[in-house]
Amino acid sequence: ALKIVTIGGGSSYTPELIEGYIKRKDQLPIKEIVLVDIEAGKEKLEIVGEMAKRMVKAAGLDWKVELTLDRKAALQGADFVTTQFRVGLLDARVKDERIPLSHGVLGQETNGAGGMFKAFRTIPVILDIIKDMKEICPDAWLVNFTNPAGMVTEAAIKHGGWKKTVGLCNVPIGHCSTASEKLGIPEEELFFKFAGINHFHWHRVWDKTGKERTAELIDLIYGPNQSEEDSHLKNIHNAPFHYEQIKDLGLLPCGYHRYYYIEDEMLNHSIEEFEKGETRAQVVKETEARLFELYKDPQLDHKPDELSQRGGTHYSDAACEIIASIQNDKRTDMVVSTENNGTITDLPYDSIVEVSGAVTAHGVEPYNWGAFPPAARGIIQNMKAMEETVIRAAIDGDYGAALQAFTINPLVPGGTIAKTLLDEMLYAHKDYLPQF
Ligand code: NAD
Ligand code: G6P
Ligand code: MN
Repeated sequence: ALKIVTIGGGSSYTPELIEGYIKRKDQLPIKEIVLVDIEAGKEKLEIVGEMAKRMVKAAGLDWKVELTLDRKAALQGADFVTTQFRVGLLDARVKDERIPLSHGVLGQETNGAGGMFKAFRTIPVILDIIKDMKEICPDAWLVNFTNPAGMVTEAAIKHGGWKKTVGLCNVPIGHCSTASEKLGIPEEELFFKFAGINHFHWHRVWDKTGKERTAELIDLIYGPNQSEEDSHLKNIHNAPFHYEQIKDLGLLPCGYHRYYYIEDEMLNHSIEEFEKGETRAQVVKETEARLFELYKDPQLDHKPDELSQRGGTHYSDAACEIIASIQNDKRTDMVVSTENNGTITDLPYDSIVEVSGAVTAHGVEPYNWGAFPPAARGIIQNMKAMEETVIRAAIDGDYGAALQAFTINPLVPGGTIAKTLLDEMLYAHKDYLPQF
């Protein structure tokens, strides 16, 4: 029987997870689900935890759902540990977005200055969790969604030494359904191959006759007739890519590439949001408040539609399927953050990359990708080196490394502004950065 522990259990996404487990009840012999949080998230944990209990009961299942602030106790006997925590909660995200924008620099949760600071706050915590796991549940799998998911997963595997870690994101799922809709072909009849790093990957698509459909999809999605509805991501402004550039690249980009390929457009839009007090974190705070009002209703025993207002909607399809696939050696074809091991020849062997692969009982077997065209190779090598530098700064609390990461991050201008921004953010987040 399985024991699944979720760290950051007070998240408004928890009903997503529970729904995913219920859907797979025949594949998952669950006995116990433990939701762990911290004092600051206690109220959220209790509200969403009671909701989780109602969902399980309404599904007629006898799974035990427990709520606790005691992580070590929770980890006893765990088979799977999933992580979905946010160090500093949404207030820290507001700072990650607003401080850079106040300097006219892109502020985003997982990209640029904001993403680097989320990594600085989060990496020490994931390494601490791994320390506990080594002692308490040395055979458990770690399934990480905590953002920035790529860097957090790299820290867990390379620095924490926890090889049984898989990183996850819901973005590829959306790209697969978009491709299926655009081509009018069911998803099961398409073959997708993704490669890159978290929130910075590209993909190619084939049909069951063996024909590659990537170029056609580029035309359909990014060609002259692209429509507002083309983005499946609620959290990213849907500005159009430059069609000619994507066509030249010959690969389908991910939604987050907008911050790099059409940076000025995204910055201008973000500054408008900043001025209205409507950066994404601020909007999400309101959505979250509405969600918790709904979860308080003792009659509610299923995931409300309102949750689809969050960018991470349907992430349970990734989360719960990965657990089911490891548990049953299903070899499901999924997109995950895992060790490169030569899958992408342009990146170091021990890097964590986000690629397609088969999820087996022994972990992920990635599908070989090979090399990127030069247009993608340059920027991904730069991004990976930036990530490595961020991780080093996060672990050592090294100011020079942090400034280095700021300097090489494509979304932060070098020079005085990099230093000013870094100093201001270090001060603003100091309560969550004991290492600096
Ligand atoms: P949230 O603000 O609701 O935080 C979730 C919970 O984490 C809170 O209840 C908080 O109290 C708790 N927490 C904070 N520090 C903790 C710690 N040290 N130990 C245990 N719990 C702690 O966040 P959210 O919006 O639900 O998102 C949760 C996380 O998942 C974020 O990091 C977010 O970026 C990430 N996320 C990732 C994906 C993906 O595609 N990988 C999708 C959605 C969300
Ligand atoms: C996407 C990304 C997640 C991110 C989320 C933000 O789904 O894959 O990694 O956390 O969007 O959504 P939010 O509603 O918090 O802005
Ligand atoms: Mn993601």
